[in-house]
Amino acid sequence: MKPEILLIEPMMPEIEKQLDAAYTVHRFTSVAQLKESAGRIRGIATGGATGVPEAVMDSLPALEIIAINGIGTDAVDLKKARQRNIHVTTTPGVLTDDVADMAMGLVLSLLRGLPSGDRYVRDGAWGHKPALPLGRKVTGRKLGIIGMGRVGRAIAHRAQGFAMPVSYTDLRDFELEGYAFVPDLLTLARGSDILVIAASGGAGSRHLVNREIMEALGADGFLVNVARGSVVDEQALIQVLDAEKLGGAALDVFEHEPDVPALLRHSARAVLQPHRASATVETRLSMGELVIKNLAAHFADQSLLTAVI
Ligand code: 8YV
Repeated sequence: MKPEILLIEPMMPEIEKQLDAAYTVHRFTSVAQLKESAGRIRGIATGGATGVPEAVMDSLPALEIIAINGIGTDAVDLKKARQRNIHVTTTPGVLTDDVADMAMGLVLSLLRGLPSGDRYVRDGAWGHKPALPLGRKVTGRKLGIIGMGRVGRAIAHRAQGFAMPVSYTDLRDFELEGYAFVPDLLTLARGSDILVIAASGGAGSRHLVNREIMEALGADGFLVNVARGSVVDEQALIQVLDAEKLGGAALDVFEHEPDVPALLRHSARAVLQPHRASATVETRLSMGELVIKNLAAHFADQSLLTAVI
């Protein structure tokens, strides 16, 4: 008998095929639909931002493992998982490069106006409408990083190629050569031209980047977020962009995905992406394989590869 698992967020067809071969896979539609199989479901595979809704976790009495296809654990109730002895795994390492690449892509898109340049050419405006405004120089700009974990460090490494002085803040000083630790976020924002968020989401970092931080970054400053929308006070962001107290923002993540406030969608100072920082063929395959290996290890009674709990 194959173990039964619940797939909450779709994965690559190649990965789902392997899941189907090893398990009886229930594809999530609603808690009501789970009723008949709920007592038999022993595992969950889900995305980082999607996580496991409370009602789903509560409706699965036989749940043993949640394999997250991502690195964020903020959408899973870890306390409850611990209490119920449910294992939780993530996919660290394999998505670091892609997320850092996206951060640099967003920096370039925002400062050099790549999306508006693309639209200008496509719309046939070139040669017919006034030239686009000049962009801003990327090379040499001061970069501040919030969260110096794997992704933060990979961004810092890339920034060296752009001759950017790098400072960072985190819960502690990692004593990293070449990067200045700034214990206080407000001071980091004041001293940065570009502030990139690479910190974990969750209650501890909610609205860390508030109005005061954004105003400290300033009218000539830029905010980039490849972490979690919850880290930024989105309403305050809309207001500071509108009041021209912040130069611009490039966002891959939002507070209430997939809903993006109309005022952000219409802002000429914003560059937006639909949460795609890890969305490459190579990386999603590696992530999916890690999900499969963790599930397989669990059901074979072996130690998990990348366990959080
Ligand atoms: C993915 C993420 O887009 O790693 C995470 O926590 O949010 C992203 O890498 C997601 O996990 C896939 O749904």
